[in-house]
Amino acid sequence: MNTSNHSPADLPSSLPSSEPVILVTGASSGFGLLISITMAKKGYRVIASIRDLSNQGQLMEQAKAAKVDLLIDCVQLDVTDHRTISEVIIETMERYGRIDILVNNAGLAIGGYIEEVPLEAWRQQMDINYFGLVAVTKAVLPYMRQQRSGHIYNISSVGGRVGFPGYAPYVASKFAVEGFSEALRLEMQPFGVQVILIEPGAYPTSIWKKGFDSIHASPHSPYQDQLDAVLNYSKSTLNNGADPQDIADAIARISRLRRPKLRYAMGKGVHFLLFSKVLLPWNWLESFVLKFMKKRKAPARGL
Ligand SMILES: NC(=O)c1ccc[n+]([C@@H]2O[C@H](COP(=O)([O-])OP(=O)(O)OC[C@H]3O[C@@H](n4cnc5c(N)ncnc54)[C@H](OP(=O)(O)O)[C@@H]3O)[C@@H](O)[C@H]2O)c1
Repeated sequence: MNTSNHSPADLPSSLPSSEPVILVTGASSGFGLLISITMAKKGYRVIASIRDLSNQGQLMEQAKAAKVDLLIDCVQLDVTDHRTISEVIIETMERYGRIDILVNNAGLAIGGYIEEVPLEAWRQQMDINYFGLVAVTKAVLPYMRQQRSGHIYNISSVGGRVGFPGYAPYVASKFAVEGFSEALRLEMQPFGVQVILIEPGAYPTSIWKKGFDSIHASPHSPYQDQLDAVLNYSKSTLNNGADPQDIADAIARISRLRRPKLRYAMGKGVHFLLFSKVLLPWNWLESFVLKFMKKRKAPARGL
């Protein structure tokens, strides 16, 4: 990969690619994979960035089956590695001369009750879901600003609008993404760059399995019953989750709009929840969630 100390102004003025160009982070699985294939089918040149390139198999198999593999370039990118971020963006500009869409999708979900999640895990959560997203966005902005066009999709979550117990690190990272995106949208609109928040509810992708496997709970945790209730609820919601392809299709649809909205909330029960947050007094919503958790919790044990 071509490294270096280029700034946008030094870049050779390569002829822009005839195809529009989209950069997707976290493209090895889930939404990122589906977005990459869907956008390639729409004729985009896709820069599918993947933390570990040995995980590109699933994406490229599906891309071949859909006959769009020639439109997809897999590049290595860990969003916490800020040096590689600039290299990838500079190389994309040198090769294709444009970046029309950025999808900040890479993420993971760290769960556990606040008292029991080590600070290191909080930092890791923010490094990937928030600072990674900020760093990739900052690297792309000079080019989109000069192009005076572009769409930036930040994959947030309904957890970026409503706080759930048992997932505070994840929720905090997504609330940060929401505030960042509101400010960024206002900064970039005068330059013709649109910032869009996608707020999915629960969808069956690998993020939850990875999260459940690494949940933080101390032995004999005083929160174990509540945590079990949260996990039971998450698992049952996921089993009834909507189709992740809906998110990729939504991005394909929104990318045709000149003036997209700021927020697109999607998924089962999500509109009802967001509506309730606006319409109901906050303490009603709280008692509803806490009662619900009590019902699901196993008989009290320990402390
Ligand atoms: N599924 C849902 O219900 C849901 C709901 C709301 C929001 N979201 C959001 O949707 C986005 C995509 O998640 P998903 O559901 O599609 O889950 P997923 O299949 O686990 O995808 C997450 C992707 O992010 C990548 N990733 C993790 N850490 C990274 C890093 N440091 N650098 C680069 N890539 C990294 C993963 O790569 P590895 O395979 O290498 O880990 C994977 O490709 C996330 O931002 C998530 O918070 C999901």
